[in-house]
Amino acid sequence: MRTDDRFEDLVVSLGGFYRTWYVYVGLELGLLQSIRDAGLNGITAAELARRTSTEPGLIGDWARGADAHDLVRIDDGRLTVTDDVAQVLLDADRPEYLGGQFLHAATGSLDYAQLLDVFRTGTPVAKRPDRYRASIERLTVQDIAVFFQEVLASVPDLVVDLKPGARILDVHCGGGRWLIAMARRFPGTQLVGVEFEPDSVSRARANVASAVLTDRIAIEHGAVDAIGHTGQFDLAYFQYALHQLPDAPAPLRSAWDAIHPGGWLVALDWYMPSDPDELRTRHGELIAGVQLDELIQGTRLASRIEALGWFEAAGISTPALIDLPSGATAIVARR
Ligand SMILES: C[S@@+](CC[C@H](N)C(=O)[O-])C[C@H]1O[C@@H](n2cnc3c(N)ncnc32)[C@H](O)[C@@H]1O
Repeated sequence: MRTDDRFEDLVVSLGGFYRTWYVYVGLELGLLQSIRDAGLNGITAAELARRTSTEPGLIGDWARGADAHDLVRIDDGRLTVTDDVAQVLLDADRPEYLGGQFLHAATGSLDYAQLLDVFRTGTPVAKRPDRYRASIERLTVQDIAVFFQEVLASVPDLVVDLKPGARILDVHCGGGRWLIAMARRFPGTQLVGVEFEPDSVSRARANVASAVLTDRIAIEHGAVDAIGHTGQFDLAYFQYALHQLPDAPAPLRSAWDAIHPGGWLVALDWYMPSDPDELRTRHGELIAGVQLDELIQGTRLASRIEALGWFEAAGISTPALIDLPSGATAIVARR
């Protein structure tokens, strides 16, 4: 690449860093949602500030910056947002939803003061703050949309089995959002979530209570290599979790034991491409960024080959590996 072109290429990345923070402010303060709600007529910065209880002068500055970053448009002093931006940043039920990824990237980077020490010493940060796990709950909203629209479309027999009375297990349930979405999508099912972080257990129980689903969803606080409930579940599910465990085959074995014959095990994750050409793509750039966020805490995204090795080590033979349109991958096995 010519130096000028390389300069342009790298400037785009630097601009992208600031763009992330414009998105973060726009999402967290409800600015983008309010602009969308205003529709085609748009809204002035002063009215936007009034509706979102923010400081009018600074909202004017945010608006000009967001316009520069092509997130909003200012015409005759009125702000609008295009459908494509609104859909990708605000519509959590779409597989293309990136709002949660922006929030998570910004929140995760608050811990990066320790990044250099981690690379120098090889010692990861001892514990991420509670705000980090709360942001995972928002990040993985996208995975729920991927599960409903891409995984279930690829495994129609699973949908048939999730009839009233079916039992569903979420291993590492985090804040319980997937369980709540499943309970609503599959009426009459009974669900259990296992989670070991105390703050995530509390958030999951609070989320289940405010969804008025305590009669159908139980959150168990514990480690996942001894789940118990032998032979009870029609589906056991791992979402964005297996790669974070020091010994992934152990919880896989434990989840497999908890499924009855004919039941399903599904692990949905984002894998590190082994093929350099797959890594040298926009998707690869994003995955490499997520990897940085894993490395700081002493975990790492796995490759698909490593993941299949965990299934083999757990004695789960010939799982199907399904690469999904979103870039996520589901590994599916039937007992
Ligand atoms: C990236 S989060 C994913 C959470 C959730 N599945 C979601 O999609 O929102 C990984 C989860 O694994 C949990 N976890 C890690 N080790 C665990 C263990 N030994 N037992 C149970 N949960 C564990 C963490 O607390 C965290 O909630």
